[in-house]
Amino acid sequence: MESVSAAVIVAIDGPSGTGKSSTSRAVAAKLGLSYLDTGAQYRAITWWMLGQSVDVNDPQAVAALAGRPAIVSGTDPSAPTITVDGQDASGPIRTQEVTSAVSAVSAVPEVRARITELQRRIAAEASYGIVVEGRDIGTTVLPDADLKVFLTASPEARASRRGGELKARAGSGTVDLAATRAALVQRDAADSSRKASPLKRAEDAVEVDTTELSLEQVIECVVTLVENTVAEKAQRTPS
Ligand code: DC
Repeated sequence: MESVSAAVIVAIDGPSGTGKSSTSRAVAAKLGLSYLDTGAQYRAITWWMLGQSVDVNDPQAVAALAGRPAIVSGTDPSAPTITVDGQDASGPIRTQEVTSAVSAVSAVPEVRARITELQRRIAAEASYGIVVEGRDIGTTVLPDADLKVFLTASPEARASRRGGELKARAGSGTVDLAATRAALVQRDAADSSRKASPLKRAEDAVEVDTTELSLEQVIECVVTLVENTVAEKAQRTPS
């Protein structure tokens, strides 16, 4: 493992299927940083709402209970964890039911305020630095991040990657790529058009189009960006 000396805050944003999670985890592991998957937090609160039989399409009902569940994220990139009220939520948050409901829940301002506060606290406590991945990290959650990366890819590439992930999870069953693409485009449209903190590239983010790149190439590219950022930061900081 290479390691970076000063605490560095890295924000990685972008739509689904761009390789954001795999890249963020691998970069954090390689550089000895913590890792936070903020999508998992939004999925966790959505899973809890569904378990309470809250109508996820009723923003007032969701807002009223947004402060209730205790959501705890483990930030070791080799084994990230997420619990809700002490219960392991890592499996259930990846179900289709949660995926279909998460955009509605994460559009509720009270939910975003709650989760954003958790995210900022986790980033502040990461003594060696952290890679935080999501949709609004560079714009809203950590606007002073040392490095902001915005990952993109064509809808076709993103659907094919998501399809691969779903297939790996589902085992031998077939995956409908056209339906996967449609669901992904619809979720991105909802995430990008919501009023509260939409999916958006920060003006000072480095955009990396991953359409033609392998995962290893994307990881290498982001590792280099982080290392350059750390070196520049060290030069600015008097010893
Ligand atoms: O990255 P993911 O697919 O697990 O994210 C699930 C949903 O959570 C996504 O559709 C939008 C929402 N999300 C968000 O609104 N803000 C973030 N920082 C991360 C995710």
